[in-house]
Amino acid sequence: KRLILIGPPGSGKGTQSPIIKDEYCLCHLATGDMLRAAVAAKTPLGIKAKETMEKGELVSDDLVVGIIDEAMKKPSCQKGFILDGFPRTVSQAEKLDEMLAKQGTKIDKVLDFAINDSILEERITGRWIHASSGRTYHTKFAPPKVPGIDDVTGEPLMQRKDDTAAVLKSRLETFHRQTEPVIDYYSKKGMVAKLPAEKPPKEVTVEVQKVLSS
Ligand code: AP5
Ligand code: ZN
Repeated sequence: KRLILIGPPGSGKGTQSPIIKDEYCLCHLATGDMLRAAVAAKTPLGIKAKETMEKGELVSDDLVVGIIDEAMKKPSCQKGFILDGFPRTVSQAEKLDEMLAKQGTKIDKVLDFAINDSILEERITGRWIHASSGRTYHTKFAPPKVPGIDDVTGEPLMQRKDDTAAVLKSRLETFHRQTEPVIDYYSKKGMVAKLPAEKPPKEVTVEVQKVLSS
């Protein structure tokens, strides 16, 4: 399967992705995770992206299209993939369609994580992540066994620099202005399934499974 996950910050894309990935043997391509890794490693790409990400704005289309083009060639992605956080502009969506057309494939489904903005601040400010694996926790909704510690590795958890109420506001504006049109773009092609992303994580998983098995 070739899937796109679209939704505002904190809507649950990164929470559902590992579950879908394991169930359908897909690779999980999250542009945000890849960019954060580049920032942490201080690569030329990371140095370029850092400031933009901390402001809650989008890095350039060419930059992320390049990352995705590279990543989709990995052997683990040949059975299918989950795109999490990409495409985020109509131009990215058009470029993705072109890339896939060249390979004789296309997207199967776009999952729209629909949720009211008012819920997102609590989700974002309570999030803790294990940076190297991308595992995500929440102080209230998905607490680790030991506060501040990753369940699997025992390593410390951290908070994302853009996970403040102030930067969230800017990320939401960016989402409504630049990414919502991507949902319309795919709706016109009849590819979008709308999910009730405000439900508890397990219920969202069930909704995803319903869509993918239909
Ligand atoms: P990115 O990393 O993609 O951030 P985002 O879109 O803002 O999404 P989040 O990761 O914040 O939300 P999520 O939906 O994954 O939520 P999660 O599942 O973790 O992008 C970061 C930045 O990189 C961008 O601002 C931009 O600068 C740049 N960038 C990335 N891609 C780009 C692109 N294509 N083009 C240009 N620039 C790009 O859940 C959040 C919290 O809620 C967690 O704590 C979780 O435990 C909890 N939670 C999850 N689901 C539930 C639930 N159902 N109920 C209760 N709690 C829940
Ligand atoms: Zn995410």
